[in-house]
Amino acid sequence: MDIKHLLNQMTIEEKIGQLLQIAPFLFIQDLDVEVYGFVKDLGLNEKRVFNAGSVLGIKNAKEMMEVQNKYLKKHRLGIPLMFMADIIHGYETIFPVPLALSCSWQPSLAEKVARISAIEASTAGIHVTFSPMADLVRDPRWGRVVESFGEDPYLNYMFAYHMVKGYQGDDIKKEGHIGACVKHFAAYGAAEGGRDYNTVDMSRSTLHNYYMSGYKGAIDAGAKMIMTAFNVLDGVPATVNKYLLRDVLRDLWKFQGVTISDYDSLHQIIEHGASENDFEAALLGIDAGLDIEMASTCYTNYLEKHIAQHNIDIKYLDEAVYRILHLKEKLGLFDHPFKDASEAKENELVRHETHLEDALNVAHECMVLLKNEDQILPMIKGSNVVLLGRYATSNETNGPWSWHGKNDLNISLYDAINKDFNVTYVSETLDQDDHVFKKIKEADYVICAIGEKTKESGEAHSKADINLKQSDIDMIHQALSHNPNVITLLYHGRPQLLEDILNVKAILETWFLGSRANEAIRDVLLGIKNPSGRLTMSIPRKVGQIPVYYNHLNTGRPKVENSHNEYVSYYLDVPNEPRYPFGYGLSYASFEYGTLKLSQETMRIHDKIEISIDVKNTSGRDGYEVVQLYIKDHAAAISRPVKELKDFKKVWIKAHETKKVSFTITIDKLMYKNDLGQDVYDLGTFTIMVGRDSLHVKHQTLRLVKE
Ligand code: BGC
Repeated sequence: MDIKHLLNQMTIEEKIGQLLQIAPFLFIQDLDVEVYGFVKDLGLNEKRVFNAGSVLGIKNAKEMMEVQNKYLKKHRLGIPLMFMADIIHGYETIFPVPLALSCSWQPSLAEKVARISAIEASTAGIHVTFSPMADLVRDPRWGRVVESFGEDPYLNYMFAYHMVKGYQGDDIKKEGHIGACVKHFAAYGAAEGGRDYNTVDMSRSTLHNYYMSGYKGAIDAGAKMIMTAFNVLDGVPATVNKYLLRDVLRDLWKFQGVTISDYDSLHQIIEHGASENDFEAALLGIDAGLDIEMASTCYTNYLEKHIAQHNIDIKYLDEAVYRILHLKEKLGLFDHPFKDASEAKENELVRHETHLEDALNVAHECMVLLKNEDQILPMIKGSNVVLLGRYATSNETNGPWSWHGKNDLNISLYDAINKDFNVTYVSETLDQDDHVFKKIKEADYVICAIGEKTKESGEAHSKADINLKQSDIDMIHQALSHNPNVITLLYHGRPQLLEDILNVKAILETWFLGSRANEAIRDVLLGIKNPSGRLTMSIPRKVGQIPVYYNHLNTGRPKVENSHNEYVSYYLDVPNEPRYPFGYGLSYASFEYGTLKLSQETMRIHDKIEISIDVKNTSGRDGYEVVQLYIKDHAAAISRPVKELKDFKKVWIKAHETKKVSFTITIDKLMYKNDLGQDVYDLGTFTIMVGRDSLHVKHQTLRLVKE
């Protein structure tokens, strides 16, 4: 398809149509009769609907084909619609939520999850997914941390990169491949107070060194689209932010793909106070480089007028339309407007048994064991168990953003474990009954499966109080008063405060693990699988510590252990450190780290330094250890964090075995970004650290010297 030629044949109205994304029902209902209410308010009519360029959300192949068929009959040039949807952690086979997935510290699993999601979603005729969400997060009050890969820029880069590779493969035209739209550009995860959609304010240095990394990972992997964020940056809504959309995206990163607003966000710049009305918003959007407008109609209603009045050069419209048509061409839609949509394929591939098997295997890797006193876990098969809490019998394990997933096809924890244990009592709440207390007393273990409901995290679901529910805390305390062997399983989409339950024997983070959650949990409880997840978000002790994250800057007055100087940076009522730090997680095995060795103590710019450490499994169980490499730059043009993750290896170490784990340090690991987003470095001293989490590390000094 000659896109330029096609563009030349298009009327202005047809071109502007390509910039509009609307819901599928608009194509299905009879618009002649039904142009009323919000459809009319949006300025939509049959002509405009049937010139629209793309569709948001689609139920299944049947609906997609109906819409595409009807549309193609009416479109003068027969340009097909592009169908987009939020496929975030699976289509119908649901995988662990992204926050849980990142705790696997296995970016290759993200690629697998995305691959299977694409295979399933493509059968319904979906061409682009609004994933990955690469927003760096430091605030567990924000409900959307569940969709993120956590607080670290390097992990965000890696997970976003691999998700895109999984969705897109090497050619999105191929069967079972879809385009990836990374979001929300930029810095949406830094919403003030953790309140969704709230204002963001940060320095360029913070933006480039931390928040940009995930989006860049997706773009380096070839993501075809990027979605703007709801927030402002430098006081300008991201949707019309020229610095973001032109200076960074196009000029610095050379991104050639399509930009899209978030839902109604072009219109919402009026609420931000950035524009008087939709007329002005349209001009600001096209001028900033925003291509597609999702669910609002500023372009549809006003762009033609701007062009007629010469407020904007038509070349900006042409560039946007060109990018959209080019993506349709890359997807092969001009030749195959239905692409992979097929009811037969839906039946064959959606929730395919191998996909469900993979969902189980991925879920195994994502749990984080936070506490395991007296090695109470793994549990002994056949023992007496009391099972309490909402998630004892609930099968709501898919988590937010799994709109095609069906919780009722999942099994509950009770169903998953009742053949392996003698479950003597199961209840959502703890009844005040001597008979029940007796069962608790006599049990070998009491499992409390607690947390949050699906709708307590995710979009628009922020919280100021991230404590566990008082009723759950009370239940755990009561159980503890009758039996010390309490095991707590946490089902939720964000880190919550655990201060009130620290005296239980075991705490296992299970997040929302998807379609096969409780079977995966069972395997860990029984020791069939050894837990190997590590936290990608710090768990605070108190809300007042937030934001609490491992890669913070030092202050001029850092707290020094055992010093009596009180004029240092600390809280009177709580330590500076989180309850559980970034990178933390236990295993049923135990590991010991030897001495950290560097091949050289001084490094020139082009040198490669080999570092290695012996890691010994001191236990009688095989298991994974996540060996983490951190670096601190001591004196630079800008203050650098106390440590930054630069690499890691998840290694399988057999019982009593010692493995040598090596990393290579090259100059890129010593670099940071200046205010323009360019890579720079400074000569001088660096501390190289390797350890099991961000707190427990072995270190050595490295000096970077002139060539
Ligand atoms: C969300 C996006 C999502 C879009 C389309 C918005 O409200 O912020 O993440 O992709 O809706 O569903």
